[in-house]
Amino acid sequence: MYIEKVKDQMNLPETVRIFDTTLRDGEQTPGVAITVEEKIRVAKRLDELGVNVIEAGFPAASSGEREAAREILKLGLDAQICGLARPLKGDLDAVIDCGVDYIHTFIGTSSLHRKYKLKMTKEEILSKSVDAVDYIKDHGIVAEFSAEDATRTEFDYLKEIYKAVEDAGADYINVPDTVGVMVPTSMKWLINNLNEHLSIPISVHCHDDFGLAVANSLISVEAGAGQVHTTVNGLGERAGNASLEEVVMSLITEYGIKMNIKTEKLVNLSEFVSRITGVKMPPNKAIVGENAFAHEAGIHVHGVLEKAETYEPITPEMVGHTRKIILGKHTGAKAIKSKLDEYGIDITNEQFDKIFRQVKSLGDKGICVTDADLKALAENVIGKAKEEIVKLEGFSVMTGNIVMPTATVKLNIDGEIKTAAKTGVGPVDAAINAIQSVLVDTTDIELQEYNIKAVTGGTNALAEVFVIMGDKKGNRATGRSTTEDIVMASVEAVLDAINKILLLR
Ligand code: KIV
Ligand code: ZN
Repeated sequence: MYIEKVKDQMNLPETVRIFDTTLRDGEQTPGVAITVEEKIRVAKRLDELGVNVIEAGFPAASSGEREAAREILKLGLDAQICGLARPLKGDLDAVIDCGVDYIHTFIGTSSLHRKYKLKMTKEEILSKSVDAVDYIKDHGIVAEFSAEDATRTEFDYLKEIYKAVEDAGADYINVPDTVGVMVPTSMKWLINNLNEHLSIPISVHCHDDFGLAVANSLISVEAGAGQVHTTVNGLGERAGNASLEEVVMSLITEYGIKMNIKTEKLVNLSEFVSRITGVKMPPNKAIVGENAFAHEAGIHVHGVLEKAETYEPITPEMVGHTRKIILGKHTGAKAIKSKLDEYGIDITNEQFDKIFRQVKSLGDKGICVTDADLKALAENVIGKAKEEIVKLEGFSVMTGNIVMPTATVKLNIDGEIKTAAKTGVGPVDAAINAIQSVLVDTTDIELQEYNIKAVTGGTNALAEVFVIMGDKKGNRATGRSTTEDIVMASVEAVLDAINKILLLR
């Protein structure tokens, strides 16, 4: 709405190219390594999404990097496949040998990089950069040139080196905010001023050290940048890069820029990358986080149930997400009623009041009520006998300092008896491992959270175990049990949660 008031002050391009570097800078996330096979799968998904360039890796770094680039190239994707190279013949040849159609060459230009890292003069750096672009163009390949640490480089030198590579035939110049030091106003100044001196398209590569990578990328587009470097989930060196999903959704929905991105694939891609990299997204991550379309507060839920736009800037379907109504202490009667209706549970006003009070009181204890919990709560209030698909027939544990803690469980799963014995780091771990091993063939339910607290004091204290279990479809349930025996309490809590999920299915 307000953007319309300032659009005429912007130099917005018709469209913005997405240069995705998940497989290069994203892989530089501390602790992350992506196999060739995984890189191929990510590249296919990035291509299906519709990004323009996929930076497949740094071929000079290893044979795996070269293999990944070659294999990705063989897929014949629509996206251009790029390899990173320093302006060194060996690096450039390593990329050229992979057969890719795009080379991203970079060299540090700031005084810090010149003095401490490269130990080279401005002139030497400039001449190496021009030679590299010449070499790339001689091989008929698209050339993108990055002045690494551009945002801490003297402006006159930056202009000079970018102009020199443009004259040598570079197709794009990229402006890396290597350590994320820009703020939107300075970024706007820089892109505007570079734009005045250059005719080739400007690309930006913003790091998130101060949480400004997306804002700096967007303001660059406002200043006329035609390409943005992104990574899925904002992965990348240190605090990461500008997140693909946030940049794309802002460009499309806030600025109204036309892009050929299949946004409905974003959540799936984010989950996939999170799985293979092991980097979990916080629930409140914009666009793709678990809570991005979740509502708990009564006023919000009321609004969303009447008209989703009241509290949602875009529909969850636009990015392949789903709306969630969470029950907790802020939940209003309307949300609980709508959930019960969804499950076809008919209740009297009196029964409803009871359920409502229980949801609020659990919320006050800091416990969120999942859908499965609400169903179990309602059935309790209505007086329906608690159904159990999985029943405990018996279990035993052996523990001590000279034996490996071992548990044996015997479960009745819908009439069928199954047993398993498993070890663990302690008796509780062994018992839960044994239950999970019996259930692994029949369900995909896993323990997501385990909490224990002593309710009373003494060696015969009552222990309260609270667990959260979940399955791959996103069904979640809490389970709890209180007894003097912590292993028994754990087993009962786990089975309580498992039964709630199975009944929900
Ligand atoms: O952050 C950076 O400067 C880089 C360069 C390789 C472009 O990743
Ligand atoms: Zn980077």
